[in-house]
Amino acid sequence: MGDIILVTGGTGLVGKGIEYVINNEPANSRFGKRDNETWIFASSSEADLRNLEQTRKLFEKYQPTHVIHLAAVVGGLFKNMNGNATMMRENILINDNVLHTCYERKVKKVISCLSTCVFPDKVEYPLDESKIHLGPPHPSNFGYSHAKRLVDIQNRAYNQQFGCNFTSAIPTNVYGPHDNYDLQDAHVIPALIHKCLLAKKNNKPFVMGGTGKPLRQFIFSRDLAKMFVWQLREYDEPDPVIFSVGEDQEVTIKQVAEAIVKAVGFTGEFAFDTNLADGQYRKPASNKKLLSKMGGFEFTPFEEGLDLSVKWFLENYDTARTGIKSA
Ligand SMILES: NC(=O)c1ccc[n+]([C@@H]2O[C@H](COP(=O)([O-])OP(=O)(O)OC[C@H]3O[C@@H](n4cnc5c(N)ncnc54)[C@H](OP(=O)(O)O)[C@@H]3O)[C@@H](O)[C@H]2O)c1
Repeated sequence: MGDIILVTGGTGLVGKGIEYVINNEPANSRFGKRDNETWIFASSSEADLRNLEQTRKLFEKYQPTHVIHLAAVVGGLFKNMNGNATMMRENILINDNVLHTCYERKVKKVISCLSTCVFPDKVEYPLDESKIHLGPPHPSNFGYSHAKRLVDIQNRAYNQQFGCNFTSAIPTNVYGPHDNYDLQDAHVIPALIHKCLLAKKNNKPFVMGGTGKPLRQFIFSRDLAKMFVWQLREYDEPDPVIFSVGEDQEVTIKQVAEAIVKAVGFTGEFAFDTNLADGQYRKPASNKKLLSKMGGFEFTPFEEGLDLSVKWFLENYDTARTGIKSA
């Protein structure tokens, strides 16, 4: 029998990136679909993974041999700050249900998706895989961060006690087609794309909060997807791997905004509201482990990835996650 790969959270930004790569890279190549593989991209409508019964039913239905576990209850600053208990509990439930069901069903390999928010708030930069548990995470989202950290502990414990091949990936900021463009809850790139488009439509200035000076590493969802496929096929250790562009590829928020203005074709007034606070100036993560294990990687240039994301948003505005469109 062939491999059955179940992707939880398969309908989101990262899941859609994996689906694209699997179906668009040459068949049987390093990242393309292999003849002996069946890929399943699950959504929450098929099973609410906070519920153990529903989780077991999903696994009964598809009988996966491998799992890429992306599903998570995610949210912006406000949702996290006001809901640390809920964010912690719901993510712990999802992760425990998925990992324990994988153990029960003898799934051969599981990759779970963490996030750089697992890292301590006060830490020496650049971030690397050895620093996850060295101190408390940022207080704004400590519930979500601890739930994600616990996956790393579960992976090691299930590996030690039962020999399970469970591991994890730690992506930096992701962007790409199928992102969440809801202005209440979106990450910086989809939020700015949406704002810029509204400014263009309404003939208003495009105003950004802060100075635009902070630096960030952004990874295109289809590049990230290739890393997940690599990890699934070629990496067999419980220790996580950071999935990121290099520290030399940090961009300022101002550069992001300029690239968005260009991609959207916005020609109006473009300004910064410096009364609003900047986030942390930089929080670089090292991709040394990734590149040494993978043997090099050709990243999509930022402007190219951004162009594709804007194009996708314009073409799918009516069905994309946009929240209140009149905002
Ligand atoms: N986006 C980033 O910048 C970023 C950075 C670092 C790490 N990550 C991690 O990457 C993973 C995927 O994130 P994403 O950006 O792709 O998020 P996303 O676009 O919001 O997708 C979230 C996915 O999780 C599913 N999901 C949510 N609650 C669920 C539940 N109770 N039961 C079953 N499925 C549920 C959603 O299904 P439905 O849509 O069907 O409800 C959706 O497929 C997450 O683990 C996240 O922590 C993301």
